[in-house]
Amino acid sequence: MHAKLRKAVFPVAGLGSRFLPVTKASPKEMLPIVDKPLIQYAVEEAAAAGITEMIFVTGRNKRAIEDHFDKAYELETELERKGKNVLLDLVRSVLPEGVRCIYIRQAEPLGLGHAVLCAQPVVGYEPFAVLLADDLMDSQPPAMVRMAQAFEREGSSLLGVEEVPRDQTQSYGIVTADRMQGDLARIHSIVEKPKPSEAPSNLGVIGRYVLSPRIFDLLSEVSPGAGGEVQLTDAISALLVHERVLAIRLPGKRYDCGSKLGYLQATVELGLRHPEIGEAFGQYLKLR
Ligand code: UTP
Repeated sequence: MHAKLRKAVFPVAGLGSRFLPVTKASPKEMLPIVDKPLIQYAVEEAAAAGITEMIFVTGRNKRAIEDHFDKAYELETELERKGKNVLLDLVRSVLPEGVRCIYIRQAEPLGLGHAVLCAQPVVGYEPFAVLLADDLMDSQPPAMVRMAQAFEREGSSLLGVEEVPRDQTQSYGIVTADRMQGDLARIHSIVEKPKPSEAPSNLGVIGRYVLSPRIFDLLSEVSPGAGGEVQLTDAISALLVHERVLAIRLPGKRYDCGSKLGYLQATVELGLRHPEIGEAFGQYLKLR
């Protein structure tokens, strides 16, 4: 048995340009799927895996996320006064029990790798998870629970992967790996966003990682790539020289909520299952 994962990093400082204008003044991770923002789904997933330290790397427009997980005195007092206990419980349970939030600022959006490096002072020298909230993982058990179990057993870094359509390799980090043994496979190489004609496989990395702390040393050595961004992929590529890194196929379905189409698909699917409006929404869709 290896050490338990205790810390998760949520990089939420990207520009979210594919979602402008809604991301002009608020982070993409606050987009709701029905009635819950994407970031809350990700925090709940990490908490289900036993993670207790939630580390947010925020940028401009950070307030909404901090406020969301903070105590809302005025709102709670008002709901209490009106006896709206169901809503009060809902508001109070936004932050799972036993969980602590820590916020760090990424002064400039210099890439995902740079955002992860910003978390180093809080993570320290221990393995940690990274969750990109715009990849919404809809599964039971939650995706991070599977990753935490695999980490406890294997003790090595893990990258969530999925077979992606050949013509979409340019949107993903692409890995080459051994044949899957169960849901795990050893990774040999990783490249960032290759053209379909140059992609070594169609196994794409999705927004779930467990990383060894050595990644911080490597991130600080990586030179910025395209657009001056520090790529996490480049540091993982360097990590492969030193350590075993495993690909893990995750259960359930992933919605790419960083794209409008994926976001709408998630809204429809989760909307149809929503206890309050699911049935009526289904009727509405049928009648159209
Ligand atoms: P994306 O590649 O999706 O970029 O980032 P983005 O800026 O959020 O969105 P688009 O492409 O402009 O529409 C992947 C993840 O990394 C975070 C983002 O918040 C997102 O969760 N990120 C990216 C940072 O925290 N900092 C950065 O400098 C870049």
